[in-house]
Amino acid sequence: LKSHKLKPHPTIPRATKPILICVLDGWGESEYHDKFNAIHAAETPAMDELRASAPGRWRLIKAHGTAVGLPSDADMGNSEVGHNALGAGQIVDQGAKCVDRSLETGEVWSGEGWRAIQDSARAGTLHLIGLLSDGGVHSRYDQLQLLMEGAVRQGVRRIRLHALSDGRDVGENTAVKWVTKAQGDIDRWNSEHGIDIRIASGGGRMHVTMDRYESDWAVVKAGYYAHVLGEAPNTYTSAIDAVTDLKRNNEVSDQWVDPWVVVDDGGKPVGAVQDGDAVVTFNFRADRMVEISKALEYEEFDHFDRKRWPKIKFAGIMQYDGELKLPSIYLVPPPLIERASEQYLVGSGVRIFACSESQKIGHVTFFWNGNRSGYLDKNLEEFVEIKSDQGISFDKKPEMKAAKIAERVKEAILSGKYDVIRCNFPNSDMVGHTGKLKATVISCAAADRGVKVLLDAVEEVGGSFLVTADHGNAEEMVKRNKDGSPKYTDGEPEVLTSHTLNPVPIAIGGPGLPKNIRFREDLPGAGLTNVTATYINMLGFEAPDFYEPSLITTDKP
Ligand code: 3PG
Ligand code: CO
Repeated sequence: LKSHKLKPHPTIPRATKPILICVLDGWGESEYHDKFNAIHAAETPAMDELRASAPGRWRLIKAHGTAVGLPSDADMGNSEVGHNALGAGQIVDQGAKCVDRSLETGEVWSGEGWRAIQDSARAGTLHLIGLLSDGGVHSRYDQLQLLMEGAVRQGVRRIRLHALSDGRDVGENTAVKWVTKAQGDIDRWNSEHGIDIRIASGGGRMHVTMDRYESDWAVVKAGYYAHVLGEAPNTYTSAIDAVTDLKRNNEVSDQWVDPWVVVDDGGKPVGAVQDGDAVVTFNFRADRMVEISKALEYEEFDHFDRKRWPKIKFAGIMQYDGELKLPSIYLVPPPLIERASEQYLVGSGVRIFACSESQKIGHVTFFWNGNRSGYLDKNLEEFVEIKSDQGISFDKKPEMKAAKIAERVKEAILSGKYDVIRCNFPNSDMVGHTGKLKATVISCAAADRGVKVLLDAVEEVGGSFLVTADHGNAEEMVKRNKDGSPKYTDGEPEVLTSHTLNPVPIAIGGPGLPKNIRFREDLPGAGLTNVTATYINMLGFEAPDFYEPSLITTDKP
C-alpha cells in the first residue's frame, strides 16, 4: 500500500501535542429519555460535560444508511461501515450494496469467482455457510435466496446450508422463525426443481464459526467440526428440531445456541464437506468470516486440529481481507476503500497508536484501514490488543476491559511517543447486543469512566481530543411504537438487541486545540465520513480534496 503526504493546513498549526481519537462503540443519541435508554440511565459525567460544549464543540452526526454507504436509509449503522467511514473519509458503497448489485444484474454468475468453483458446485455439493437472518449487518436472507435460486439455475443439484443463528442484529428469539422460513423455501425449490437442498448444520453465532480478531478459536473449531466434519455434540434429523430443542424455550438466546448437525436415519451427517465439493461463505461482512476462511483455505493451519481438510473449491461471497487476499476466490469484488487516512498520516510522518480489547481491536486497525490487516509502517504505527474474556456473554461482565484499555491508552498519551492515539471502548455495543438493560447501563458508565481517564491524560499533556461513536445501540434497549412508547408483549418490554438508526455524538476539545476552532454550522447532514478530515485538520494538515468536508472551521462565527 502506498503512502501519501499531506499539505499543511492554511490556518491550523501543526499539532505538537498528542491527539486522542476515542470511539464509543454503539453509543447513539435517542430522542427518548426514559429507562430504556441505557446511556441516559447511566452515570456518564464525562460525556455529559462534553455535551455542554455544544454547539461549537459537540454535535450529532449520521451513522447509518446511505451516509455510510449502506443500501438504504432503513439500514442501521454497524461497526464495519462505521470504522471504514471514520478511517477513510469517503462514502463508499459497502459490501451489502455490492452483493445486491451483483445478484441483481446477474454479474455474480459470470464473474471469475463463480467460474472458478462452478464445476465443483455442479459435480459435487455446494455448501453455503453463513448467518441466517435479515439483519443486514453480516448477511441478508434475501441475498441467500437469490444465491440459492441462481445456483440452481446454474445447474447445481445439491446444496447444503450451514445456518448460523443470529439474535444480535435481529431479535434474540427469531432463529426458529428463520430456520422454518428457510426450510419452507427449500422444500418448495426441491419439489419444483427435483433437486436436493438440505439444511445440514448450524449453531449460534457467538458459539459457532463467527469469532473475530482471533478472540477465541474454539468458536471457529466448533463451526468447522459441525459444517465440514459433520460433528457436533447435538445431532437431529431436522434443522427445525435442532434449533427448537437447543433454544430450550428461549432460555438460550439465538446467539448462544450450541452447535448442531443434521443426520440421516442411520445417524450419518447429511452435509459433511467432501473432496470435490464447493463451499461459499455468504456473509458479506469481513471480521467474523476471516477465521473460518483461513480454516477452509490455508494448507498450513495450526489454530486447531482440523482432523480432515477436504480438497474443495472455496469462495467467499466477498474477499474479506484485502491485505491477505483472503479468500483468494470470491464471487463479488469487495468495496474498494482506497487512500484511507492512515496512508496519508503515515506518509506525513505521523506516529500512531491504536488500542482496544480483542473483540474490537480490528475495528480501529483492520476496518479503520479499509479492511486491511497488518501495519502500513511498523516504525510509525503500534497496535495494542487487550485480551477480551472468552466464552461469556458480556452482560456477565459489563465493564469488560474498559479500565485496562483506559490505562494502556493513557500510558500511550503520556509517553510522548505518538501523535495520534485512537481507541475503541466496546461496552455499550457488546453489552447492548445482549439486550440486558441493567448490565448495559453498567457498561455505559464503565465506558464513560474510561473516557474520563483519557480526557484527564489529554489535559495533563496539553493535547486535544475527538470523542465520537460508530453507531447507536445502547440508547435503544426496547422496541418502540410509532409514538415512541415502549412496546410490550404479555406485560414484558420487547427487547432490542440490535444497533439503531440514530445519530451519534462527536465532541472535540482539549488544551492543545486552538481556541478559534469550532464546528461549522453549514453541514447539518454530516456523518461519520466527515470525521476523517476533521482529525486531519486538527493535526494541522489539509485533508485530501476528495474526502468529505471537515466539520471544523477557524472562521469567526
Ligand atoms: C457483531 O458482529 O457483533 C454485530 O453483528 C454487529 O456489531 P458491530 O457492528 O458493533 O461489531
Ligand atoms: Co454492535
